Amino acid sequence: MKVLITGGAGFIGSNFVHYWRKNHPQDEIVVLDKLTYAGNLENLVQVKDQIQFIKGDICDEATVEQAMANVDTVVHFAAESHVDRSILEPDAFIKTNVLGTHVLLKAVLKHKVKRFHHVSTDEVFGSIALGSKEKWTETSPYNPRSPYSASKAASDHLVRAYFHTYGLPATISNCANNIGPYMFPEKLIPLAITNLLEGKKVPIYKPGNQVREWLYVEDHCSGIEAVLQKGRAGETYFIGPNNPELTNLEVIQKVLVLMKAGDNMIEYVKDRPGHDQKYALDHSKITQELGWRPKFGLDEALRLTVEWYRRNEDWWRRVKSGEYQKYYQQQYG
Ligand code: NAD
Ligand code: TYD
Repeated sequence: MKVLITGGAGFIGSNFVHYWRKNHPQDEIVVLDKLTYAGNLENLVQVKDQIQFIKGDICDEATVEQAMANVDTVVHFAAESHVDRSILEPDAFIKTNVLGTHVLLKAVLKHKVKRFHHVSTDEVFGSIALGSKEKWTETSPYNPRSPYSASKAASDHLVRAYFHTYGLPATISNCANNIGPYMFPEKLIPLAITNLLEGKKVPIYKPGNQVREWLYVEDHCSGIEAVLQKGRAGETYFIGPNNPELTNLEVIQKVLVLMKAGDNMIEYVKDRPGHDQKYALDHSKITQELGWRPKFGLDEALRLTVEWYRRNEDWWRRVKSGEYQKYYQQQYG
């Protein structure tokens, strides 16, 4: 089988490339990635001779056409993915996440690709009130509230429209927040870990009582694998962890303990505009229908993530130089 992985040089995409290589060594892998600030060929260095890499934009029809030749399955990760950047500069989110996904869908249809898997997020469903026990299911109404989540919601709708209108064999997964190797240190957990390794404080958006669910990235990869192998076209599957509910502050306190740092290393900073309070997924569908369940608990996921950043200081120091400094200054002052 020939698999095209868009965004395969980013955080989750590169983890998926490694996962697929290891578990499906007979398959041919093509990675299409624009190498934005978040894309990094260092993430693929161990497999560079075993995959085909195309540097290109999913919005560019000619490049997508070329990448799609003889492909059986597309796994679509490429996106602008950081909420805070979507608040500062939304344009790229609309372009890549909406228009780029549409370019891919047209090419998938034309090339009669057997499966298009769209990687999406829990954030398209909006925000749950703190204290509420509500959990979203695959049929919950969409209610995105940031430019990022609105652009991902639009792409989900396009994928569904192509399934219903043209019979395009598509599946969608909406996943919780991921953590693990190669995560760009603009997101909370790798930002916290690398700041602490640099002796800097961890910025927490006030008041720090927001709630996210945290999944180890390998579990996300195995969830997508389950959908590709056993999921039904036209269906959406949630992928999430089985952890107790924790606030951002409580999760950061776990990181502080792992890194032997005190609460004095927390710095409360101004809140994100329109900050979603809580995300919570009921992922019983994928467990019941496809037999998937997460293997990693939160403590192990955090421990493995901290260990990876400790061992890969060259990687994150390079990533945190250059453009990153400008963004950090703009976001945190
Ligand atoms: P990331 O920002 O780390 O990586 C995105 C990758 O896409 C980069 O390699 C980048 O170069 C590439 N890319 C961006 N624009 C492109 C374009 N126009 N053409 C080609 N390539 C382009 O993102 P991530 O955190 O790995 O997220 C991957 C996917 O998973 C996204 O679709 C995101 O919405 C979804 N997701 C992420 C999380 C999370 O916690 N990070 C959770 C749920 C869902
Ligand atoms: P983030 O990692 O950006 O993921 P998302 O917003 O997509 O869930 O943020 C996770 C949570 O952490 C979110 O509630 C915002 C909060 N946060 C901070 O408190 N400080 C930070 O510096 C960042 C980046 C996020």
